[in-house]
Amino acid sequence: MVDVTISEAADRLLRGEVVAIPTETVYGLAADATNASAVAKIFAAKGRPDFNPLISHVADFAQLEALVTLDARARRLAEAFWPGALTLVLPRLPGCPVAPAVSAGLPSLALRMPAHPIARELLARVGRPVAAPSANRSGHVSPSTAQHVRDSLGPEIAVLDGGACKVGLESTVIGLTGERPALLRPGGIAAEGIEAVLGEALVQPTDRKLQSPGMLLKHYAPRLPVRLDAAAPQGREGLLSFGRPLSGFATVYPLSESGDLAEAAARLYAGLHALDQMPGLDGIAVMPIPQQGLGVAINDRLTRAARGR
Ligand code: TXA
Ligand code: MG
Repeated sequence: MVDVTISEAADRLLRGEVVAIPTETVYGLAADATNASAVAKIFAAKGRPDFNPLISHVADFAQLEALVTLDARARRLAEAFWPGALTLVLPRLPGCPVAPAVSAGLPSLALRMPAHPIARELLARVGRPVAAPSANRSGHVSPSTAQHVRDSLGPEIAVLDGGACKVGLESTVIGLTGERPALLRPGGIAAEGIEAVLGEALVQPTDRKLQSPGMLLKHYAPRLPVRLDAAAPQGREGLLSFGRPLSGFATVYPLSESGDLAEAAARLYAGLHALDQMPGLDGIAVMPIPQQGLGVAINDRLTRAARGR
C-alpha cells in the first residue's frame, strides 16, 4: 500500500508518474496532461482503450486560457457550477499544450475544476492541467474511496487519500462544441439545474460515438450480475434499497432510507463494491430509483452495470 502526501503527489505528477487522487465525484488516476508519456501510463494502468478521451482538471480560470475557447455558455456554466461536478467539452485552442492523446485525437478537450480541497491544493501546486479518468480498471465499478482504488488497480498504486467522495458519481459532461449544448454523460449535477442556467434544453446526442466515445463502452460492471427494478428476491441476492427496503433478500445495502437521491448517489459505488465482495451471493438486485434529478445518472450507471461485461 503506497499512501502519498499532497507534496509527494505533486512531485510524482511533475516527474511524469501517475497517482490516484481524491475528487468530490470519484477518485481519479492522475497524470500531467501536457506530458504524452505520462498520459500513456494512465491508459496502460487502466487497460483503457485509447479512443476514449480523458478529462483534464485545473485549479483556476487562469489555467484555462491557453487551453480552450470559452464561449458565453461555457462562462455561465463555469461560474454557476465550478468548482464542482461539471465537465465542459470545449474546442481546443491552436497550440493547446495538452497531449493529443488526452483528447483521443479530437479537436475538443474536456475540462473540470474540482471542488475537493485536497484536489484543489494539489492542482494549484502542480500548476498544469492534470488528466484523470476514474481510478479503476476500465469497465469496472468506479472508486469512491482509496480502498476501492487499491482493490481495482492493485496495492502498488500510489494513492493520495482524501476520504470518501461526497458526490459519489462522476461529473456531468456537457458538450459545447456544437450549436446546441449536449448532455454527453449524466452525472453529479442534475441536467435540470444546468438547463436552468443555460436557459435552454440540453440535446441528447444521437451519434454518441462521435461526441463522447466513452459512453459506448460497457462500464461500471461488478463481478456479480445486477438486476434492476427488483420487487422480490430471485435466489440469494443482495439488495441495493431505495426508500423502505423490500424484505426477503440475503442482505440489504441501503442507498437512502429517506429516498434522498443525493444520498443514494454518494452511496451507490460503495454499495456495489460492498455487495460484490460479499461471499455467498449470486446477484445484486436494485429497487426502482426515480428517473429525475440525480436519479438519471444513478440509473445510467446501474443500467450499464446490469448490462455486464
Ligand atoms: O467525475 C469525473 O468526471 C471523474 C473525476 C476523476 O474527475 N473523471 C471521469 O473521467 O469520470 P472518465 O475518463 O472516466 O470519463 C470521461 C468522460 C468519458 O465519457 C469520455 O468519453 C468523455 O468524458 N470525454 C472526455 N473528453 C471528451 C471529448 N473531447 N469529447 C467528448 N467526450 C469526452
Ligand atoms: Mg470511468
